[in-house]
Amino acid sequence: DSIHVFAPATVANVVCGFDVLGFAVNEPGDEVVMRITDKPGITISKITGDDGRLPLNPAKNTVSVSVEHYLRSIDRLDIGLDIELHKKMPIGSGLGSSSASTVAGLFAIKTLLGDDTDPSTLLPFAMKGEEMACGHGHADNVAPALLGGFVLIRSYEPLDVVRLPHPANLWCAIVFPDVDVPTREARQIIRKNIQMKDAVTQWGNIAGLVSGLFMQDIDLIGRSMKDVLVEPVRSMLIPDFYEMRQMAMELGAVSFGISGSGPSVFAFTRDEETAKRITAKLQKHLTSIKIGSNGYVSTI
Ligand code: HSE
Repeated sequence: DSIHVFAPATVANVVCGFDVLGFAVNEPGDEVVMRITDKPGITISKITGDDGRLPLNPAKNTVSVSVEHYLRSIDRLDIGLDIELHKKMPIGSGLGSSSASTVAGLFAIKTLLGDDTDPSTLLPFAMKGEEMACGHGHADNVAPALLGGFVLIRSYEPLDVVRLPHPANLWCAIVFPDVDVPTREARQIIRKNIQMKDAVTQWGNIAGLVSGLFMQDIDLIGRSMKDVLVEPVRSMLIPDFYEMRQMAMELGAVSFGISGSGPSVFAFTRDEETAKRITAKLQKHLTSIKIGSNGYVSTI
């Protein structure tokens, strides 16, 4: 028995919704091939696309560790599994790279075992993988990677995840500037305390964004995607963040911001052409300042 599963990249936070909002894109994403074997225990026989950066040791890899948590919960640690992980997106990019791998692994084992419970039952195991990857078990990458589309984490304790609608004609341009911004560190630099006036601005924007998604009002979505809490600090880790924002907005972006903890940035647009133009312009700019990049264009 074997299965091949794809799970998508995700954009967490969606600018104003730190740790509570995220959405999945069509591409890029990671793939897991999982086989049931005769010998009890989990092995990782192959990882491709990671430049040797990820551990083959199953005790240290987020995919196998979260799969093991799942197997323990259903009392099936007797099973033998072999995992192949094919990374199809940059690691440490702010695109939910570890989440995509973990979700693909969990979905693979759930399907192989014929577990027909709702996929959201996998979320706590996927969050364990996030905790291992960056020291904090946030769900704003794993939930959209698992459920697709836009997702709101209404509460962490107890976990309450809500799928949100979105306008059909919303496009997303993503650019990954090839600089190192580990999520663990990008979380350490953000402020622990905030002012009431900033909180008011932020929750107005989150409510505006969610309303815009329901009302299919792209203008409302655009003017709500502002972040006074996290972006002012994290933008310092991203080369020419404000210059890139200006370029994207001049080319007709609806909004622009950091994807997850960065360094990737993303823009919403109303059509594919605008998204392509923004990706090309930002990548050209990064090349001019001697920074490599990847660019993606996706619907949501
Ligand atoms: N919400 C998380 C953060 C996402 O911003 O740290 C990490 O991709």
